[in-house]
Amino acid sequence: MNNTSRLQYLEAMGIESWQLRQQSTFLAESPLVEAITAIEPVSIAPQKPALPENPAVALIVPAVIQPVMIPADNWESLQSEVTNCRKCALCETRSQTVFGTGNKNPDWLFIGEAPGEQEDLQGQPFVGAAGSLLTEMLRAINLSRDDIFIANILKCRPPHNRDPHADEMAACRPFLERQIALLKPKVIVAVGRIAAQQLLNTDMAIGKLRGKVYRMNGIPLVVIYHPAYLLRSLSQKSKAWQDLQLALKTYQDMKGV
Ligand code: URA
Repeated sequence: MNNTSRLQYLEAMGIESWQLRQQSTFLAESPLVEAITAIEPVSIAPQKPALPENPAVALIVPAVIQPVMIPADNWESLQSEVTNCRKCALCETRSQTVFGTGNKNPDWLFIGEAPGEQEDLQGQPFVGAAGSLLTEMLRAINLSRDDIFIANILKCRPPHNRDPHADEMAACRPFLERQIALLKPKVIVAVGRIAAQQLLNTDMAIGKLRGKVYRMNGIPLVVIYHPAYLLRSLSQKSKAWQDLQLALKTYQDMKGV
């Protein structure tokens, strides 16, 4: 059957037929049209509504802009990041990191300088001779080591107990900041010159820094002499006692007792 007869039959049966229009010369010659017509046409299924027409479903449609979720910090991941830290050269010489110990819900946070030889070997802060004196100082204001948390500016021992370098303190600082944020202490005690200068971002002498109350991240901060220094300079012990009294008063003021 030729095409004309076929169309007549279809028309007689009431079936509409579609015929290609004559393409304009301009379109037919366009390379773009060639590319398009070379593609097999696809059948376009009728579009389904995006969601069932259930009003309850509309309520759970996700917002187009999702808020960025920052996972909350936690003690375990912080501790493991410190253990595996390789941010400065001290990781090459340490025996182990010293994260800090004590009460994880403390009113008091004591921050020293860096682990010494014994601390590096045992993985605990203030376990040498200076540590024993610190325990005595705590007892003088009715605190035990279980009441407080003790950490250091550096989590790794500097070789031969030299002073921490600025780049080491800068690399370690975020760990301490995260510890403070998680511990939420009522009072911070900076133990010794290095801790005081680093926390207060100053190079002022400790003799000038002690005797005042500062704020770090909104938390009152008091400076005391380092027990290792007190072991060498017995004449300063009365000043150390005054510093502890100031720390205690600051705490009592905070608590309103
Ligand atoms: N000195 C510090 O400052 N920290 C320690 O952990 C030990 C000694």
